[in-house]
Amino acid sequence: MRKLFEETKIKGMTLKNRFIKAAVWEALATEDGHMTPALYDIYEDLAKGGIGTILTGYTYVHRDEQPNPNMMAIYDDSFIEDYKVLTQKVHQHGANIVLQLVYGGSQSYLNPPSQNIWGPSPVVNGLTGITPKEMTLEDIRDLIDLFVQAALRAKAAGFDGVQLHAAHGYLLSQFLCPHYNRRRDTYGGALVKRARILVELVKAVRQAVGEDYPILMKINSQDYMEDGLTSEESIEVTKMLEAAGLDAIEISGGNESTPHVLENNLGPARGKVNQSKDNESYFKGHGKTLAAAISIPVILTGGNRHIDVMEGLLETTEIAYFALGRPMIAEPDLIVTWSKDMTKSPKCLSCNGCYHTPGKRCVLNLKE
Ligand SMILES: Cc1cc2nc3c(=O)[nH]c(=O)nc-3n(C[C@H](O)[C@H](O)[C@H](O)COP(=O)(O)O)c2cc1C
Ligand code: SF4
Repeated sequence: MRKLFEETKIKGMTLKNRFIKAAVWEALATEDGHMTPALYDIYEDLAKGGIGTILTGYTYVHRDEQPNPNMMAIYDDSFIEDYKVLTQKVHQHGANIVLQLVYGGSQSYLNPPSQNIWGPSPVVNGLTGITPKEMTLEDIRDLIDLFVQAALRAKAAGFDGVQLHAAHGYLLSQFLCPHYNRRRDTYGGALVKRARILVELVKAVRQAVGEDYPILMKINSQDYMEDGLTSEESIEVTKMLEAAGLDAIEISGGNESTPHVLENNLGPARGKVNQSKDNESYFKGHGKTLAAAISIPVILTGGNRHIDVMEGLLETTEIAYFALGRPMIAEPDLIVTWSKDMTKSPKCLSCNGCYHTPGKRCVLNLKE
């Protein structure tokens, strides 16, 4: 029987337990994306707190395209030395650290003039009002190269793997979404064409980093839009990504570029999770179907709160890992706590107050 506290492997990476820290943008990097003492401390505290593997906050790959202020970046070699320090700090406590890579696109607020922002098609963004520039085939090649260079830097800096961010409405997830992707060339239309950029990206990164280096991806289980990616389509895309050489898939959901998603609590970081255990692990239905359909590990994210719920999913489904975002903001040592008392309820109330505090700290901890 599989257990939450047991060692597993994803390619060359050994994971000491099945808990993963979900990516959280802390807004604590310098203006140009470099590490700060406060940011090192957050990751070291998480590693000390017993988590098996940490996914970093999203890290931008294009110098001129920063989805949010004070994000981490990796657009040139100057970051390698910073990140060597980071990976060493995390590794000394027996945890892994995987760098999440992103190109934001029209969902980003901090972009240069919109004529320079890449998008699949020039469709106005429902959140920001920005209309991006339709990417040429050369732009698509350049984007893939930016990710490849970023992945090579991540490997050189000692990260245990990379995660490609293709969820939540950022550029890669826009390609999958018929509303934002209106292309009529080989990158738009039928699902296989909308997925092509992701498939090519996985293949290109694989070729660069080698067979044994873990490549992960975060994807929407569905967009929750009328003309968005559906759950069935997401499963088909994941099969294509597995065939292309992906090592693990993290599932989330909700296209944040659509007011309907946020207004109806259908986004990635939902409220009301703590009202009932039925609300927990809210992408579990998709996770169960997906995990039965593919061979690579599925990481379930979103509303994982109690050990008994996660153990139940481990017993009754093929889901392999559980990622936690907000509970780890509130309690970076939650996994050590659980290793001593599996019945403990996490402190996080899913109020989303942390989105609005400096350093994305938990409001409960600010009051202490
Ligand atoms: C403050 C904050 C920042 C986030 N930043 C990212 C990010 O950089 N990349 C990402 O993929 N998801 C990000 N997320 C979403 C989380 O990774 C996760 O999918 C979501 O919080 C649901 O998991 P939870 O219920 O365990 O919090 C963020 C969430 C919060 C609360
Ligand atoms: S502010 Fe604290 S309690 Fe509220 S969602 Fe964030 S981590 Fe959880």
